[in-house]
Amino acid sequence: MAHSAAKPTPSVEPRVAAAAYAASNGLDPANLPRHIAVIMDGNGRWAKSRGLPRVAGHKLGVDSVRAAIRTCGKLGIEVLTLYAFSTENWLRPKDEVTELMSLLSWALKREVSELDKNNARLRASGRLSGLPKTVQMELARSIERLRENTGLVVNLALNYGARQEIVDAVNALIKDGVKDVDEAALAAKLYTAGLPEPDFVIRTSGEMRLSNFLLWQCAYSEFYVTPVFWPDFREAQLLEAIAEYQKRHRRFGGI
Ligand code: FPP
Repeated sequence: MAHSAAKPTPSVEPRVAAAAYAASNGLDPANLPRHIAVIMDGNGRWAKSRGLPRVAGHKLGVDSVRAAIRTCGKLGIEVLTLYAFSTENWLRPKDEVTELMSLLSWALKREVSELDKNNARLRASGRLSGLPKTVQMELARSIERLRENTGLVVNLALNYGARQEIVDAVNALIKDGVKDVDEAALAAKLYTAGLPEPDFVIRTSGEMRLSNFLLWQCAYSEFYVTPVFWPDFREAQLLEAIAEYQKRHRRFGGI
């Protein structure tokens, strides 16, 4: 699909607005993470605690996705990676997987105009050919529509597994006939090639695990785990998390 309307090259103005929004929320605009990655967890428990079917949690989780995208956009964050479906999630009951896949297509269709209005781009990380054709098509259509935007990159981790990603990268290097591999060569074959590494990884619902998420890219990321379930994780909770990030002293192995 052709891109709808040409957008002006972002001037200083969006940066000023982002800095003002950050400052008005008690954040230091000069110390924001470039890339935030989120393990969205707790949809099922959120629903269960209210006597609702699990899918009700996933549905409300889409509103939290929208809030996270909006907040990151307002702050001028460069990349927001969302762990939406792991390679292990296929083990869930068939009905739940089907619901999640249709929710994805539906959310992509519904949100693309809003993303476009906000100058956001879309990207996907994972073994995308393993997704249902309808999801692949909706994804491709949305990515194409937002291609020329210059703002926040929303990176959806879909049918994503970090070990598989590394295996795929190694196989791509072998296919290229590469004999001597260094870190940059491997990183260039990851699904996330070209993106900055996540500065900040958030996991909701209190679980202290990485769950096969961005194993390579998180080498120096700061971690934040909140007991809040994903459907309740909105603007205020994200701003609170970033305030915590700003208290960290990142050393990258130094002092
Ligand atoms: C984890 O909660 C959540 C998921 C596996 C799916 C996340 C999907 C969405 C929020 C909806 C669609 C996303 C986009 C990007 C539009 P869980 O089911 O593992 O919760 P539990 O641990 O409490 O069971």
